Amino acid sequence: MKPIYLIGFMGAGKTTTGKELASCINQEVIDTDEEIVKREKKTINDIFEEHGEGYFRDLETLILNDLDNRAGIITTGGGIVTRPENRKKLKENGIVFFLYASPEEIFKRIEKDQSRPLLKGDKKRLIQELYEKRLPLYRETAHVVIDTTNKDKAEIIQEIVECLG
Ligand code: S3P
Repeated sequence: MKPIYLIGFMGAGKTTTGKELASCINQEVIDTDEEIVKREKKTINDIFEEHGEGYFRDLETLILNDLDNRAGIITTGGGIVTRPENRKKLKENGIVFFLYASPEEIFKRIEKDQSRPLLKGDKKRLIQELYEKRLPLYRETAHVVIDTTNKDKAEIIQEIVECLG
C-alpha cells in the first residue's frame, strides 16, 4: 500500500487527524516534525533558532525521502510543500490529503500557541502572508482536499476513509 500523506497549514489538524486515522484503519503513523525532533533532540523552536530555517527544511526533505517506502500514514509540517522536490515526492509516491481550514479558523486554533517559530510576532498577519503563498502549493500537491470547516474529527476521518475506498 502507498503511504497516505496529510498536508496542510499549521493548525489544520494533521497530527491529530493522522493519529485517529491510524487507529481507525489499523495503520502506523509517523509525523515528520516528530522525527526531526527525535533526531536532533531539540525542539523545533530551538532548531530554527540555532540553525535557521534552511537547516530544518533540509532535515524535513531528508526524512520525507527516508520514509519513501513506508506504508501507513505520514503527517507533515505545514511548510513541507515549499520545496518543489517535496511536492513532487508527495504527489508521486502516495495519496495526498490536504486538510483545508481558512486563515481565520487557523488563527483561532493557534492564537495562543508558542511552538511555531514562523509565527512569532503579529500572528494574524504572518498567517495571512504564509497562507496566501502556500494555498496554491497545497492545492497543487493534493490528490484530495478535505474541508475541515465546521467538521468534527469523526466526520473528517470518515471522509478520508471513504476516499480510500
Ligand atoms: C511549519 C509548520 C510546523 C513545523 C515548523 C514549520 C511551517 O508544523 O514543521 O514549525 O513552515 O508551516 P505544523 O504544521 O505541524 O505546525
